[in-house]
Amino acid sequence: MHDLTISYGGEPVLEGASLAVGDGSFVSLVGPSGSGKSSLLRAVIGLQRPLSGTVETGLAPSQIGILFQDDALLPWKTARENVALGLTFNGMVRGKALAEADAWLARLDLAGLGDRFPRRLSGGQRKRVALAQVLAMRPKLMLMDEPFASLDAIVRARVVKDLVALVEREKISVLLVTHDLEEALSLSDDVYLLSQGPRARITEHYDVPLPRPRDPVLSRTHPAFAPLYERLWADLSREVDQRAEAA
Ligand SMILES: Nc1ncnc2c1ncn2[C@@H]1O[C@H](COP(=O)(O)OP(=O)(O)OP(=O)(O)O)[C@@H](O)[C@H]1O
Ligand SMILES: [Mg+2]
Repeated sequence: MHDLTISYGGEPVLEGASLAVGDGSFVSLVGPSGSGKSSLLRAVIGLQRPLSGTVETGLAPSQIGILFQDDALLPWKTARENVALGLTFNGMVRGKALAEADAWLARLDLAGLGDRFPRRLSGGQRKRVALAQVLAMRPKLMLMDEPFASLDAIVRARVVKDLVALVEREKISVLLVTHDLEEALSLSDDVYLLSQGPRARITEHYDVPLPRPRDPVLSRTHPAFAPLYERLWADLSREVDQRAEAA
């Protein structure tokens, strides 16, 4: 992403944003509410036309998986059918797609739940079905916008752990928007901080030197974690305080 500016009705919300997601790397974007994080993700998939600047993924749309805050499962289809949907849409025969779907459900600890309709699954299970749906498409890049915000701490930790193991194994690149600074650092190779909008900018970049494979919980006890967290927290607080003073 190079020098990206996004504006609504002539008002720039995000200005001059440049960032790179390396092949197979995990990148998080944090910043105050309204700083343009969701707008930036939409620009990556062409749902948002930037005022200026460029986004280059080198990927076909089908190679980009998207997981937004609200899971988009179809209520009238079972978990298995939901996961198989994208595969059959891409031309896979139904039987094979359903078998693939079962394999992905099992990988996400949902074996035996394939026949359930979404309303009969817990929030965490639904989130994992949505994750299976995206992963089954074998994306090269995943865009995620606060996908786990509605989950309780334990379920969230489990889903995130599954996700990390899978993206590491499949070498999927990730761009994650999160408000959780610990989550950003514990999962990522790079974290970018957006300043308070309007006219938000990317003001900081943090290189996260924690080892891989990564345990998203245990990595928080690594000696490199606390100093990075303190820096990120201080930088974000400064952004929010400055804006509060200006107001
Ligand atoms: N379709 C739209 N039309 C006009 N303004 C918009 C539109 N979408 C977003 N905005 C504005 O652009 C700014 C950035 O919105 P965006 O949703 O990208 O922020 P965000 O960083 O994702 O915030 P949050 O953390 O609250 O999700 C906000 O001030 C928002 O009100
Ligand atoms: Mg948002």
